[in-house]
Amino acid sequence: MKAKTPEQSKTTLTDLVLPSETNPLNNLFGGELLARMDRAASIAARRHSRRIVVTASVNHVAFNRAVPLGSVVTVEAKVSRAFNTSMEIFIDVWIEDRESGEKTKANEAIYTFVAVDETGRPVQVPEVTPETKIEIQRFNAALRRKQLSLLLAGKIKPNDATELKALFD
Ligand SMILES: CC(C)(COP(=O)(O)OP(=O)(O)OC[C@H]1O[C@@H](n2cnc3c(N)ncnc32)[C@H](O)[C@@H]1OP(=O)(O)O)[C@@H](O)C(=O)NCCC(=O)NCCS
Repeated sequence: MKAKTPEQSKTTLTDLVLPSETNPLNNLFGGELLARMDRAASIAARRHSRRIVVTASVNHVAFNRAVPLGSVVTVEAKVSRAFNTSMEIFIDVWIEDRESGEKTKANEAIYTFVAVDETGRPVQVPEVTPETKIEIQRFNAALRRKQLSLLLAGKIKPNDATELKALFD
């Protein structure tokens, strides 16, 4: 299976924030942003694996900045690392200034998707070859995040979280 770069799975969704998608402060509702990120991440995972993909875990979400009504929001997702059947997807969220067009980073998230066959059984995916500095940083830290996610889900024992243990040695 030929390795792919994060750029090959890059998925960009750009859309407005409409009144029905906001909270009482007239900012984008968190659940709406989660759905947009899930959609972009799902397409990125599909582009990387060319398989049916399912969300296995939302590993991290940081709602650092409110996104006001009427904003143009861009959600960019890329596969940062692939393991055996699972893929870590990094999602960056940007808001575009109406007058200058300048993009400001608003939020980010990390999701895990698993490639499955028609019966829902996990199947192998290609590896990722990171290219840029940030892609290499994200790739290198992904195993630690995978172990943390599996530990929190009760799917591995603390002793098996070797990357996390190494942080405290
Ligand atoms: C995701 C799913 C396919 C995993 O199935 P499973 O029986 O746990 O399979 P496995 O234990 O072999 O795990 C498959 C991969 O997922 C990874 N994984 C499972 N749970 C994970 C978690 N919480 N965090 C990170 N990775 C996880 C495993 O480490 C493994 O990765 P690898 O093969 O790359 O090493 C299964 O739980 C499922 O179908 N869940 C429902 C998915 C869904 O419907 N999502 C939408 C929610 S509405």
